Amino acid sequence: MTTASINTSAPSLTSVAAPNDFGPGWYAILASRELPQGKPLALTRFAMPLVAFRTGEGISVMLDRCPHRGVKLSNGCVQADNIVCPFHGLAFNRQGQCERIPVQGPDTAIPKALQATTYKSRELHGFIFIWWGQEPDTLPDIEWFNEELAGCDGPYEHWAECEVGLSRNIENQMDAAHLPFVHKRSIGRLVKSPKMDIDCTVTGQRIRMFLRNGRPGFYLELCLPNIWINRIGTKSWVFLAFVPVTATRTRLYTRYYQGSFNLPVLKQLFGWLMGWSNLWILREDIRIIETHDTKVSPPLDGSEFLLACDLPIIQYRRLRAGWQRHV
Ligand code: FES
Ligand SMILES: [Fe+2]
Repeated sequence: MTTASINTSAPSLTSVAAPNDFGPGWYAILASRELPQGKPLALTRFAMPLVAFRTGEGISVMLDRCPHRGVKLSNGCVQADNIVCPFHGLAFNRQGQCERIPVQGPDTAIPKALQATTYKSRELHGFIFIWWGQEPDTLPDIEWFNEELAGCDGPYEHWAECEVGLSRNIENQMDAAHLPFVHKRSIGRLVKSPKMDIDCTVTGQRIRMFLRNGRPGFYLELCLPNIWINRIGTKSWVFLAFVPVTATRTRLYTRYYQGSFNLPVLKQLFGWLMGWSNLWILREDIRIIETHDTKVSPPLDGSEFLLACDLPIIQYRRLRAGWQRHV
């Protein structure tokens, strides 16, 4: 592969397993708190080696590969808002342009094509987001749960990883019928009957699931491509970000937000307790979903016999089929 071809665009989506779970969009990929000041951080997302770093102008996310001779930029350092390669000291700015080639001295013109591959990135709501997939002319704003989380404290955050892809994780979190079985030792105890009348609405890239015969006000909402929220009480929210490490491995950031307690000690204690209990519940999920026969869910091809309770999953697979026609 030539240097020029590496620089032209972000890597294609063809290396992931079919069906492709990764529609174009802003993906939360990392918690802000994990990205330190002043040094690069290596991470794998979308099965790609990436490097992230902070500058005075904001964050930068790049392919973790120096365009000179292909070593990892993440083993270098951050100096004067540039990432400096550990091999020959070439320095790249936030946009990926080379700004210094020490071996050629300061007066040599730097070829325009000498660029690291960068991804469009933003930092918002305590997450680093990157745009993955085909770029529209104008990138849209990052979707969030503005109304729901207004005035709430948080996040009380943990993460866990599991060996199934994005779709298996998303579908699991849109599936209320598993509550009395997977979570029989935890939240499943609160479910009065396994018989559930499940419905959902689809608005753009959001799917909201609710129970017609359930607790009023309870719902789950998926905001594609990879965030989710669950209203568990008045001003009490469980949040998830499903972060693709590879096509078949997912990191789940679980957060808790609340707006009921004002006293700092109570707030902290309750948030801490809810944070850990969310992680416990998530591990109950992971134990089951890692036993799926395929790590990425199938298309709507009849290979799984879906029931009425799977309506949110059917809607998700429909949306996914829509992206696959365009990626
Ligand atoms: S490989 Fe990075 S500067 Fe040479
Ligand atoms: Fe669950």
